[in-house]
Amino acid sequence: MINHSKRLAPLSTGIFNQLLQYKQEQLDLGVDIIDLSIGSPDLKPPTFVTNTLSTSALNTDLYGYAINSTLEFKEAVTHYYNRKFNVTLKGAEVLQLMGSQDGLAHLALAYLDPGDIVIVPDPGYPIYSASVHVAGGKLYHMPLVEEADYLPSLEQIPEEVCKKAKMLIISYPGNPIPAVASEDFFKSLIEFGKKHEILIIHDFAYCELLYDGRRPLSILSIPESRDIAIEFNSLSKSFNIAGSRIGYLVGNANLLSPLAILKSHFDYGVFLPIQIAATKALNEGDQFLEDQRKTYEKRRNTFVESLSNEGWQVKIPAGGMFIWAKIPDGYTSFEFTLKAIENGVVVTPGDAFGTHGEGYIRIALVESDEQLRKAAKRLSSIY
Ligand SMILES: Cc1ncc(COP(=O)(O)O)c(C=O)c1O
Repeated sequence: MINHSKRLAPLSTGIFNQLLQYKQEQLDLGVDIIDLSIGSPDLKPPTFVTNTLSTSALNTDLYGYAINSTLEFKEAVTHYYNRKFNVTLKGAEVLQLMGSQDGLAHLALAYLDPGDIVIVPDPGYPIYSASVHVAGGKLYHMPLVEEADYLPSLEQIPEEVCKKAKMLIISYPGNPIPAVASEDFFKSLIEFGKKHEILIIHDFAYCELLYDGRRPLSILSIPESRDIAIEFNSLSKSFNIAGSRIGYLVGNANLLSPLAILKSHFDYGVFLPIQIAATKALNEGDQFLEDQRKTYEKRRNTFVESLSNEGWQVKIPAGGMFIWAKIPDGYTSFEFTLKAIENGVVVTPGDAFGTHGEGYIRIALVESDEQLRKAAKRLSSIY
């Protein structure tokens, strides 16, 4: 038998397959299921984007290897960053990706030598850790806890770890934690990164989902951040085009270059019609983004209010696409999740994102208000 590489050993086949199987069993038993487990948007992309994509897809000149980003896409990103986050970028400070996952998956390979440490949030989005395993690095988990508003305590990271760490990854609003970072926190993070020469990576995939009048905060808007920080961004959640793969990394060109070199060997770029449609989305999508933000805000309010009416105490998130809810005593996250599926709602157990996620579930706001109301009732019946 030919064995797979040892670096794959820490990668499990994934909780989502297990949930899918259990969901199917319940469906076979006739249970009506509302699936709030996966963060794939149910909302549709803007028509002007799908029209551009379909028209471009008919142009047979656009089927060659793209290799690089078009100039127009880079310009669209620079204008978008300027308009939205008051951040000035040059074209060379934008690296196009086949979705931000592409960059998050490969960055560790571009930066790590065996044994280098990467500091990741716990709970955190799984690719942060998986990419480090594959690259032969080591992980240090920063707990994100409710009492500290889900901001990590940088002072508690041991000096030994700081010395060996090469990168630190965070995400606000994140997945599964829908909290937002304060400007002061970002400032201390930049200071920390500079002091210890640790590359600070901010995953800003949910930058368009901030509620109650809050403004999204790009880490690149923090003074001196360019020396040490880079930021991933994505069109997947903003424009509901998660399947048409495109995203980008922004920051100092020198910091982007290791990943650019690696990618020049690994892939041949994003399909040009997708680049053209994404350019249009970034240039002309502001009204769409505003309307969509209101839709998610309403969903958040509906769901949290419905849960609260049923006696749950759920913290109302400041942003993002998820509700991070503490489960009742007497269950593990996984046990509660199985119970939830039996009651007709698929959620994700918090420990799928790290040990500090135990005691919580993640609920994705990917259904209509009416379905969310129904889901809240079903979850509450488990209490
Ligand atoms: C926090 C976070 N970052 C990055 C991604 C990857 O997004 P994409 O590769 O579609 O840009 C996701 C997708 O769910 C996510 O939740």
